[in-house]
Amino acid sequence: MGIRIKGVGSYVPERVLTNADFEKMVDTSDEWIVTRTGIRERHIGSPEQACSDIAAEAAKAALANTGLAATDLDMIIVSTISPDMVIPNTAALVQKKIGAGMCPAFDIEAACTGLIYSMNIAYGMMSVPTFNYRRVMIIGAEKISTLVDYTDRSTCVLFGDGASAVILENDGDPETPDFMVASKLGADGKYGSLLCVPAGGSAMPASAETVANRLHHIQMQGGKTFQLAVLSMARTCQLVLREADVSLDQVRWAIPHQANERIIDAVATRLKAEDKVFRNVARFGNTSSASIGIALDELNRTGQLERGDYILATAFGAGLTWGAALIRW
Ligand code: ACO
Repeated sequence: MGIRIKGVGSYVPERVLTNADFEKMVDTSDEWIVTRTGIRERHIGSPEQACSDIAAEAAKAALANTGLAATDLDMIIVSTISPDMVIPNTAALVQKKIGAGMCPAFDIEAACTGLIYSMNIAYGMMSVPTFNYRRVMIIGAEKISTLVDYTDRSTCVLFGDGASAVILENDGDPETPDFMVASKLGADGKYGSLLCVPAGGSAMPASAETVANRLHHIQMQGGKTFQLAVLSMARTCQLVLREADVSLDQVRWAIPHQANERIIDAVATRLKAEDKVFRNVARFGNTSSASIGIALDELNRTGQLERGDYILATAFGAGLTWGAALIRW
C-alpha cells in the first residue's frame, strides 16, 4: 500500500524549570528527583500559550521537515489530556493556526499512550482506499502544566509541556512497505483512579468547592502506576515482536514513553534491550502524549535513523491505557 512516515517535528516551550527551581517551591531536592525519576529539567509553556499553540509549533516543524504545505494535509488528529477547552477540539484549532484546509480534525484521549493510539487510528483510516486520506498529521500535544498541582511534591516534579507531530503519507506505491509492522493496544478501566484529574468533567463539574479542594489537578498513586507501567510496556512489546516475527536484534531503537528513568530501566532490563533504549526524560520530564514523537524527532534530527530501521515504541498512561507499535522508519 505504501503508508510511510513522511516526517516528524517537535516543539518545547522556552521556559525551563530545573530541579533547583523545585527546591524553592516544595520540600524536595535535586538528589531525590534525580535518583527517583532521572528528571533534571522540564519545559513549561507561557501563560499565553495554550495546548493548540504548542501543537501548532510542532505541526509547523513537521511540515518543514517534509517540505509539505499545511493545505496538503487530509486529516489532523491531536492526542491530548490538556486541550485548550472542552469544545471545540484542539485539532480544529491547530488546523486554523497552521492554515490547513477544511480537512477532518479531531482529538483523541488515551493519556500518554495517545500517540500510539493515534498511529493506529490514522493507519486504519488511511488503509481504506475509498476514504482517500493520503496525508495525515498526528500530533501529541500537552500543556500539562495546567493540570499539575505545584504544591504536591509527589507529582509536580514529573511533568513538562511539549508537542510532537508525525506526518504519514500514502504514496500509493505497492512496493513501499507500510510503516506499521505490528501494534497492540490495551486498557484496563479498573485502574482509572490510580491516575486522574477528578473534577472538571460531567462527573464532577467545576465549582468553587472543586477549585478550593484542588480537584482540577493530577492525582496519582505513583508506586502502583510504576509497577503496572513496567509490566504493561514490557509484555506488550514482547507480544508485538512475536506477532511481527521480528527479534530485538533487528530493532534499531526502542522508545519507551519517557515518564521516569527507573521505569525505562526496568522495561529495558525485562526486554534485554539496554543498548537500544532511547532516553531523554532528563531534559523534558513526562510530556505525556508528546513524548514518543519528541524522541522520534530528536533521533531523526541527530541523524540516528535510517530509512527501513525498525523502531519499537511503547507507552502507558492514565486509563490505564498501554500500547506498543513496531514501526518502520
Ligand atoms: N521530593 C522528596 N520526597 C518526595 C517527593 C519529592 N518530590 N515526592 C514524594 N516524596 C516522598 C514521599 O512523600 C514518600 O515519603 P514518606 O515515605 O515519608 O511518605 C517518599 O518520598 C517515597 O515516596 P514513594 O511514592 O514511595 O516514592 P517512589 O520511589 O515510588 O517514587 C514516583 C515516586 C517517582 C512518583 C514513582 O512512583 C513513579 O515514577 N511512579 C510512576 C509515575 C508515572 O510515571 N506517572 C505518569 C503516568 S503517565 C500519564 O498518563 C500522565
